Amino acid sequence: MRPDLIHLTADGVSALLDVRRGRLPALVHWGAALGPIDLADATAIALTDVRPPAPSSPDDPVRLAVLPEQHTGWLGRPGLSGSRDGESWSPWFRVTEVRTGTADADGLITLSGGGRVELEASDDTAQLGLELVIELSAAGVLRAAATLTNRGATYRLDDLSLAFPLPARAHEVLDFGGRWAKERTPQRGPLNVGIHLREGRRGRTGPDAATLLTVGEAGFGFAHGEVWGAHVGFSGNHRHYAERLSSGEQVIGGGELLLPGEIVLEPGESYRTPWVYGVYGDGLDDQARRLHRHLRARPQHPRRPRPVTLNVWEAVYFDHDLPKLLALAERAATVGVERYVLDDGWFRGRRTDRAGLGDWYVDDEVWPDGLTPLVDHVTALGMEFGLWFEPEMVNADSDLARAHPEWIMQTGGRLPVEARHQQVLNLGIPEAYAYVRDRMVQIIAENDVRYVKWDHNRDLVDAGTAPGGAPGVHEQTLAAYRLMAELKERFPGLEIESCSSGGARVDLGVIEHTDRVWVSDCNDPFERQEMMRWTQQLLPPELLGAHIASPRSHTTHRVHDLGFRAGSAFFGHFGIEWDITRAGDSELDQLTEWIALHKQYRELLHHGELVRMDPIDPTLWVHGVVAPDKRAALFAFAFLGRSDAAPLGRATLRGLDDGTRYRVALLTGEDSSGGQPVPAEIVLPGRALRTVGVQVPLSHPDTVWLFRVEAEEWAVGQAVKGTLPALQ
Ligand code: GLA
Repeated sequence: MRPDLIHLTADGVSALLDVRRGRLPALVHWGAALGPIDLADATAIALTDVRPPAPSSPDDPVRLAVLPEQHTGWLGRPGLSGSRDGESWSPWFRVTEVRTGTADADGLITLSGGGRVELEASDDTAQLGLELVIELSAAGVLRAAATLTNRGATYRLDDLSLAFPLPARAHEVLDFGGRWAKERTPQRGPLNVGIHLREGRRGRTGPDAATLLTVGEAGFGFAHGEVWGAHVGFSGNHRHYAERLSSGEQVIGGGELLLPGEIVLEPGESYRTPWVYGVYGDGLDDQARRLHRHLRARPQHPRRPRPVTLNVWEAVYFDHDLPKLLALAERAATVGVERYVLDDGWFRGRRTDRAGLGDWYVDDEVWPDGLTPLVDHVTALGMEFGLWFEPEMVNADSDLARAHPEWIMQTGGRLPVEARHQQVLNLGIPEAYAYVRDRMVQIIAENDVRYVKWDHNRDLVDAGTAPGGAPGVHEQTLAAYRLMAELKERFPGLEIESCSSGGARVDLGVIEHTDRVWVSDCNDPFERQEMMRWTQQLLPPELLGAHIASPRSHTTHRVHDLGFRAGSAFFGHFGIEWDITRAGDSELDQLTEWIALHKQYRELLHHGELVRMDPIDPTLWVHGVVAPDKRAALFAFAFLGRSDAAPLGRATLRGLDDGTRYRVALLTGEDSSGGQPVPAEIVLPGRALRTVGVQVPLSHPDTVWLFRVEAEEWAVGQAVKGTLPALQ
């Protein structure tokens, strides 16, 4: 006996699936938790999803499944597009099996704390099989994936997308644009009739990826307004969309974007979509926190304290000079760095960005004794050694390209236009894959490499497989994942950073295989405030590389003091990207203090819950992290401009426990009037902090003030755990 309805519920979210009469599963509710419901309730809720027949519309109510099907009368984007020479293009799948891992219970199955539903379906006429997996995680994150199997003659698949329903009250879209050095800039607008379509055709996620396409109640903010978001967990071509029909129905969803002829299924062959995530939240913070909890619960989530990292890129670029790099290592160790990363420029022929990619041998002209002298020094100083690779790329000017021009991705019998003077190495070709893997394995093993900065510096254009030129982005993306997985299996504990011209590969597909993303090549703290704020909509701060760079930003040429640079990087996976052999004594002292402070707080920062306050003034951004037990928090007041008003008045602090008294005390910051901020320390109940707030200090722009918030010992009747440093 198959269930009629399946109620997945976890952490304040419910997803109620209607699988009656062998039809594909329809989400008759996805959003706030429904509480305990019985079969009668669930059936009635399913009934509320049935729309009255409108004039000039199908006689039977249209039914929207997770894989929308046109035969039901659905006139929006169908979930499946493809055909067998013009046939079998509008399938009608019948569910043949539903697995929930639980025994049937009077037609309703409830999976509390989340769960997984697997469905098998087929359309015998179209000779297609379909498997759907729908999960709700313990954090309330929904995700679904589909596998299509061809059971007839050759079938050309054009698109397999999944969609989640949006309630009528969701009107406003938020997603992201961006460019190199300015990734994930938010954009908002109304959801109108038609499709808000975000296609990623770069063959990588892109600096301008939609990232999390959210639709919510009008005016939603960090703390208010229900929101429903979709994310495609894939690093190749992809599509996110929100669609509103003139009938008022609306959905969000997406999938992989397939190039023409990219997926042709021979008899018996299958194609699996990436996971399509659905993330509900009561406000954007709730949505982000759900994703953070979801990611933190994964077995592979990095759990040891995030090592403070120094990357040498902006310090030396391609100028690899051993004495200089040794001096940098010494300085790094002195100020408290725990991981030292040698960036681009160490391999054969790589004196500029015009040559060498693919030749993964240490350049013995620059490194006559190999990397060993540097690696030994770095490890003797107590730091881990990390190394840069760009495994999916090749320069035309390389021994590899000369030996194997056919390994360059291409189509039409011509080479693609170069970008950053490079081409894409086709990892879909087994020999090319094996070559790169073997080179990486050898270099990693010989040099005690504990961390790979994995770069990907161009879009995929005309990315086909020679000689025929068939599109290969799908294979290439999966091969990159496979290579990451293989290396991690071979070198337990190896960490990988996903970098792509900065932050152009930030998604939930790559994060299955990596431990950190490089948010952006722009280290200007002013710009980083925005990028950190919004990248956290998808990923928790411990996965976001955030470095203190030189006083004058290399990308914007703005100059900022160390406090602003450090305070802006403080919450992420902290590090340095600056030639600190040129830093003065006072700068080094300050740097040492900042690193020590970060180490004291990283446990809280990287396990706590994100809070972003809706701005009381456009020039002031207040955000914080609250410990899971709500006994401690750290809040940042970032002054990003000069306001019309000064002082700004009171700002509230959220996320704390209403009934607990907290001591709010200044950790770092300097009053622009030269005096002490008013007040430097105050004790208030969480409820008053949430409803009344604290005075905003008078501050110069481009300044970050950090406040620690600590539960009062007596207020909770037990000793405050000694995780926080004493007031300075
Ligand atoms: C990309 C990365 C940088 C650096 C350079 C090296 O641009 O984003 O951080 O590694 O490549 O070429």
